[in-house]
Amino acid sequence: MPLLSVQDLVTEFHGPSGAVRAVDRVNFDIQPGEIFGIVGESGCGKSATCRSILRLFGGANARVAGGRIMFDDRTDLASLPERDLGKIRGNEIAFIFQDPLTALNPTMRIGRQIGEVIENHAKVSRREARERVLGLMRDVHITSPERRLDAYPHELSGGLRQRVMIAMALALQPRLIIADEPTTALDVTVQDQILRLLLDRRDKMGTAIIMVTHDIGVISEICDRVAVMYAGRIVETGAVDDVLDRAQHPYTKSLLAALPSLAQQGKPLIPIEGSPPNLLAPPPGCRFAPRCTAAHGNCSQDPAPVLMHRRGTASGHADACILER
Ligand SMILES: Nc1ncnc2c1ncn2[C@@H]1O[C@H](COP(=O)(O)OP(=O)(O)OP(=O)(O)O)[C@@H](O)[C@H]1O
Ligand SMILES: [Mg+2]
Repeated sequence: MPLLSVQDLVTEFHGPSGAVRAVDRVNFDIQPGEIFGIVGESGCGKSATCRSILRLFGGANARVAGGRIMFDDRTDLASLPERDLGKIRGNEIAFIFQDPLTALNPTMRIGRQIGEVIENHAKVSRREARERVLGLMRDVHITSPERRLDAYPHELSGGLRQRVMIAMALALQPRLIIADEPTTALDVTVQDQILRLLLDRRDKMGTAIIMVTHDIGVISEICDRVAVMYAGRIVETGAVDDVLDRAQHPYTKSLLAALPSLAQQGKPLIPIEGSPPNLLAPPPGCRFAPRCTAAHGNCSQDPAPVLMHRRGTASGHADACILER
């Protein structure tokens, strides 16, 4: 039974020029203890997909306009009243933001910020909370935590701030952690430590993780399965090895050729010509067709191609290209 099942999710942002459908009928399941990657170019809807799960739109005029988000097979988060969803946030599903400075309270010492998460959800004394905070800070490899309890967010390096946010995410032992580019702003060494932390948590506690990233290297290092998004839709999904080594969709192939990755070290990067479509007026049919070197007339005709399993590929590996099917 999947821990989370996202079914036909549609999410829209409303602005002066109309509605942008940032997520357009997205489907995926996450099993307990699984690390699921979401990858794709900037603006393709990775964050919108993740934010929809907990309705964390940060003040933007956005809404889940369709579909279901089944948690534990019993609760549809998409139709859950705000009050009930609030109980799931942090407790059962935690969110790690890309930029910790915008997510942390600048006027509160970090020990207190982590402590509040614990005190808000469990009846513990301040003293007990403090001990737990120190334990969490050690878990995320913050050295001399006693000294850092009293620091304000701006006094810490980017890597330390990200660790504080991860400590807050781990505080309540959620069953799912949604990590939206948790390491993009960090240097490679710190990035590696943070990924190890998350992996360690999954291995020890069976925590499921959604990992959003631009970086194919991150996907291949820690994810079990991956979804490739383009212009609001998933165009390919499957086990990481199948998708990265035997990519089927022309967009996945272009992305792999355009992104730096360990496997491709030394090979020249081939940028993808053109740019993703304006989601206010997306092209008909396959949204990648205008940039696809293999596309022909049928590719640009509605209905939009759906994810399908292709003969000769592994089970669970599906793509949304109509060519050579
Ligand atoms: N606050 C907003 N107001 C209006 N439209 C938005 C807003 N945030 C996102 N969008 C729209 O939703 C689309 C998807 O954005 P999203 O942030 O999910 O992309 P992303 O894949 O996370 O990109 P990145 O890799 O840059 O983080 C954007 O192309 C944009 O059209
Ligand atoms: Mg994003």
